[in-house]
Amino acid sequence: MWLEIGFGGGEHLAWQAEHNPDVALIGAEPFINGVASLLGLIDRQGLNNIRIYQDDAADLMDALPEASIARCFLLFPDPWPKRRHHKRRFVRPENLDRLARILADGAEFRAATDHMEYGRWMLWHLLAHPAFDWPAEAAADWRFRPADWPQTRYEAKAAKDGRSSLYFSFRRRNRAQ
Ligand SMILES: C[S@@+](CC[C@H](N)C(=O)[O-])C[C@H]1O[C@@H](n2cnc3c(N)ncnc32)[C@H](O)[C@@H]1O
Repeated sequence: MWLEIGFGGGEHLAWQAEHNPDVALIGAEPFINGVASLLGLIDRQGLNNIRIYQDDAADLMDALPEASIARCFLLFPDPWPKRRHHKRRFVRPENLDRLARILADGAEFRAATDHMEYGRWMLWHLLAHPAFDWPAEAAADWRFRPADWPQTRYEAKAAKDGRSSLYFSFRRRNRAQ
């Protein structure tokens, strides 16, 4: 089972569902227009392996069983650039604890942003968390989007406005035996 947090218009989630028909995908998105857009894609493409949670992903994560998710996507979360709003950022210790609980050992956590300061924030918080590892070895590992990761609507807008993006792939460390 894979999870996408804040799927926006749903184009990435629908692409993953189409290309991974044996995987069950859950998308969490409170924005109703985004949900409507994804429902249109599901309908047009005849997808049957997506379930939608139309609310805060944190509540969904609390309801999911431990070690139940094999891959999680957090693509271009709201950057909340003002310092006084940083506590609203999705990447924060309590959400990483939630994620660490539901991810299976060795699961991948993909996160992307076009906001360089949020990118540094993501890295700092993930590297400080005992459950996560960042296996990147070279700049190409975070500067280029892997082939099985289609561009989202938000990323396309950032590129059009001249902003490049960061693509992180973290691993959930194995639980202690
Ligand atoms: C900047 S948009 C990016 C959308 C999409 N991932 C993309 O790349 O096009 C961030 C999205 O996260 C959603 N979001 C914000 N907080 C959320 C939360 N707590 N749980 C789930 N989704 C959330 C917003 O509604 C919004 O659609």
